[in-house]
Amino acid sequence: MSERETGLSRRDLLRGGAAAAASAPLAYATGADAATRDDERFDALVRVHVEINGIEHQIELEPRVTLLDMLRERLELTGTKKGCNRGECGACTVHMDGRRVNACLVLAAAADGRRITTIEGLAEGSRLHPVQQAFIDHDAFQCGFCTCGQIMSAVGCIAEGHTGSNAEIREWMSGNICRCSAYPQIAAAVAAAAEEMP
Ligand code: FES
Ligand code: FES
Repeated sequence: MSERETGLSRRDLLRGGAAAAASAPLAYATGADAATRDDERFDALVRVHVEINGIEHQIELEPRVTLLDMLRERLELTGTKKGCNRGECGACTVHMDGRRVNACLVLAAAADGRRITTIEGLAEGSRLHPVQQAFIDHDAFQCGFCTCGQIMSAVGCIAEGHTGSNAEIREWMSGNICRCSAYPQIAAAVAAAAEEMP
């Protein structure tokens, strides 16, 4: 549009721009307020009602806390290991409503109303779960750091019916990394446990 059509001179437009720039700090202040509100929102506690290994818990925590940190830091269930903390190693595998999940990828708040099983809840009293026993019988660990996650994953793998062959077991256990490379023994233990379990 030409100057004649708008009725505004170049000088008028520049003055308008300067006025807009002067109001910019107000926009920044609004952004800062929003950030403060976000901080408050994340600092507010959420209440989580969850069953863990057959015991009911009511826990208040920040919404950003993961299921893994809740188990380890709040409930001292340290059998669930923190390896990569980003869903790559499987060391933190637990069961949520009977399905295996990486606890480092699940917010504790998302476990509200759910049933969680950790390695501490697998044995029945002094009687080991068949998968735990099979890992011992087949010497399926060295340093042991990955072992709790491997066992929890193996229980899920067997329940899902993915134990038809050594290759199938390895495929469906591939989310669990073993730095000691005890894979042949782990696969053998899973196969043996699958034979015993209904
Ligand atoms: S710690 Fe969760 S997958 Fe590695
Ligand atoms: S036994 Fe050491 S990482 Fe698996």
